[in-house]
Amino acid sequence: MKVEGVHYRSIWPAADGATVEIIDQRWLPHDFRVARLTSREEAAVAIRDMWVRGAPLIGATAAYGMALHMQKDASNDAIRETWRVLHETRPTAVNLRWAIDDMARLLERLDPGKRAEAAWRRAREICDEDVEINRNIGLNGFDVIERMAAAKNGGAVNILTHCNAGWLATVDWGTATSPIFQAAAKGIEVHVWVDETRPRNQGALTAWEMAGQGVPHTYVVDNAGGHLIQRGQVDMVLTGTDRTTATGDVCNKIGTYLKALAAHAHDVPFYVALPSPTIDWRVRDGVSEIPIEERPGEEVEQVWGTDEKGEIVRVRVTPPATPSGNPAFDVTPAHLVSGLITERGVAEASAQGLSALFPERASLGD
Ligand code: MRU
Repeated sequence: MKVEGVHYRSIWPAADGATVEIIDQRWLPHDFRVARLTSREEAAVAIRDMWVRGAPLIGATAAYGMALHMQKDASNDAIRETWRVLHETRPTAVNLRWAIDDMARLLERLDPGKRAEAAWRRAREICDEDVEINRNIGLNGFDVIERMAAAKNGGAVNILTHCNAGWLATVDWGTATSPIFQAAAKGIEVHVWVDETRPRNQGALTAWEMAGQGVPHTYVVDNAGGHLIQRGQVDMVLTGTDRTTATGDVCNKIGTYLKALAAHAHDVPFYVALPSPTIDWRVRDGVSEIPIEERPGEEVEQVWGTDEKGEIVRVRVTPPATPSGNPAFDVTPAHLVSGLITERGVAEASAQGLSALFPERASLGD
């Protein structure tokens, strides 16, 4: 996607051919900064401290983290240790494990002398594949939006989204945003209700992306969703996911479940866009089996933004002695999901729906 006329991905190999550059998302939407990662440790910090975030981008960064380390030590022990260091950064988005499993499987088969180059090549491929997958998610999701636009006789299609499943959360295009960008580019009138997404306000990233691509949008607090849905001001909810089970349960940013409940109560379609590496074929029951990341309480206790001088500041919103809880994700059961928009088409949120689209993955259970 373009930032002030310049095309960017969210991660790319640096010109020196040995390090990686990322958009440092900690500063957005206030400041656009690029950071360089030079080691697996720096890649791990970037994932854990959310310089990069979003399931597909976490996977891509982890793949590069492994490639960075193979340049220093390409032994079997180093593959295992790098897998461990990266795996423990964030527990919920399964793309992380998918990417480092994929890298480790490839590297273990090779002579150590060939591993550094192969790791670099595969990390680049994972990024290119992500871009292509998301482009296809966009085409398949476009059909859904186009049908809604036809039913509305040309009126704007109002889409509510939660968190940031935009191009910043992937290598490019985004998952939930890809159909929106494609619809807008093809002249379909869309308007996006952007959920703030406390505590980290990833909605501000989505708003920045929408503004950058000229898509009409309105930023709302998380609790506005029920009201907007009840008033008929939402035609569809469209979110991303960090891990979807083989049976179609959807784990995504905390607050997604409440939107799904409200949508179900008012017969508003609730769609989820996902690349196939986000499907965890080993898990069948999302509520009991998916690990939910508990993040630091200070994310809830404080908010940050810019002051009247444009300086980035952090302020406290809770009394100092009040304890806080910060579960970062929740699970929406499959029966609340109208459809899963993937790179191969729109699947019913069920074991049958997913295995019909991905028979080769479903049969292996990995
Ligand atoms: O904690 P985050 O910001 O990494 O959470 C991101 C989300 O929940 C996204 O909706 C999800 O990863 C899908 S990204 C295409």
